Amino acid sequence: YKRVTVKSLVDMKQQGEKISMLTAYDYSMAKIVDAAKVDVILVGDSASNVMAGHETTLPITLDQMIYHASSVIRAVNRALVVVDLPFGSYQSDPKEALRSAIRIMKESGAHAVKLEGGIEIKESVKRILNAGIPVMGHLGLTPQSIYKFGTYTVRAKEEEEAEKLMEDAKMLEKIGCFSIVLEKIPAALTKKVSESISIPTIGIGGGRHADGQVLVIHDLLGMTHEFNPRFLRRYMNLYEEMSDAISRYVSDVKSLDFPSEEEQY
Ligand code: KIV
Ligand code: NA
Repeated sequence: YKRVTVKSLVDMKQQGEKISMLTAYDYSMAKIVDAAKVDVILVGDSASNVMAGHETTLPITLDQMIYHASSVIRAVNRALVVVDLPFGSYQSDPKEALRSAIRIMKESGAHAVKLEGGIEIKESVKRILNAGIPVMGHLGLTPQSIYKFGTYTVRAKEEEEAEKLMEDAKMLEKIGCFSIVLEKIPAALTKKVSESISIPTIGIGGGRHADGQVLVIHDLLGMTHEFNPRFLRRYMNLYEEMSDAISRYVSDVKSLDFPSEEEQY
């Protein structure tokens, strides 16, 4: 495979080819995602929710993110692998942000990092970029700030927040980010931002005008079933398929059907 790079993503935007991005947190899943030719694999801090069962993304640690990222990296031959800097690993000062990003790059072998926020984290992003580490931005609904928002509803519906988001996007492009995730904002704002910057935007609940799309793999596969936002398209109902398969296994064990003569030594 020809590897996807930060440069190929910017080229894809220029050529009008949409970018596909999907999360993965472990070796087996990442192998399947990479073989299916997803362009970017995100080791998201959504691992805090879907892997660890926490209610928010706040509790996951840098060590835990590195564990997930190194598992993913061992599986991937083609995709660009981006890793979230978790809550608390970059907000207090730019030096700590750089140390955290370096740990991710060195200890997992990841290709880039993602940080949530705009002007508030400008100095941290600059420092990480200065060290030669590619940075993806993340604006709109930034789940690490959920207690500030108080709700998971659509962001930047009002003029003031929309203007700040546009300024943040332009600033992130200017300092050298290679892409920006836009989460849960109006489609019209995604369009405006995407047309105003030359680096690709990747939407989740941001509508069809983003330069690419991202979903959490558990949601796409239908493994999660209580989470039903409008933006989510489920491509399978894996929750039911897995429940059925596991129930059949249990009943085959109970009924002595499994293992059969042929399934023993
Ligand atoms: O952690 C995550 O999965 C993310 C994406 C939803 C953008 O940040
Ligand atoms: Na995230």
